[in-house]
Amino acid sequence: MPHHPASDQRTAPWQASVITLFPEMFPGPLAVSLVGQALQAGLWSLATIPLRDFGEGRHRQVDDTPAGGGAGMVLRADVVATAVDRTRAASPKAAALPAIYLSPRGEPLTQELVKELSLGPGVLLLAGRFEGVDERVLEARSFREVSIGDYVLSGGELAAMVLIDACVRLIPGVIGASESLAHESFENGLLEYPQYTRPRDWEGRPIPEVLLSGDHGRIEKWRRAESERLTRSRRPDLLNPNPKD
Ligand code: ADE
Repeated sequence: MPHHPASDQRTAPWQASVITLFPEMFPGPLAVSLVGQALQAGLWSLATIPLRDFGEGRHRQVDDTPAGGGAGMVLRADVVATAVDRTRAASPKAAALPAIYLSPRGEPLTQELVKELSLGPGVLLLAGRFEGVDERVLEARSFREVSIGDYVLSGGELAAMVLIDACVRLIPGVIGASESLAHESFENGLLEYPQYTRPRDWEGRPIPEVLLSGDHGRIEKWRRAESERLTRSRRPDLLNPNPKD
């Protein structure tokens, strides 16, 4: 198990910096519940960088029409690069953050990638709007492109919040019992087994007998079998991730 740097009090808290045209969307849902309490407690920190501040001219223009024609507008390479470079120059901490552009074209955000990012110093996220971002700045500033799923959002801000939430909950101290992390979906490559609580009988549906047996061996076996059954029926891709290998 790699040592989690946030458990070392000498290191700075995990940092999320977000370049966005809509800074007012933050912290939004990141201010509540476990992740919000952790923000208050200083276990992680959030900075928004308003892209508009780096826009060109009197109108602070950040976008322009796509080369080659077509619908929509494209975020300008020079404007995005200035936002990234000034953010990095302002603090050695920000200079060390991996740059990530949220886009439906990106590599899928998986629990594995979430773990990798949560073990690092944090993330510098670019939330796009419009048709996209000039490809040259993605190359020139070594952006990693990440998607949160096969659907299209109206902008990258919600995707940025999803990525941040998933990473922050893995920082030691954010979720009390490490127990609840050990059994969750994807931790063993399977979906989580079904859960039940009182009442014992509800609308004619009893809790599965085995869970009331007190036989921990049988319970473990049942849960494993249920995990496998659910994964086979809902997400067979998880059981055979590389079908061509
Ligand atoms: N921006 C728009 N849609 C997105 C998605 N599915 N994932 C990440 N960023 C996005």
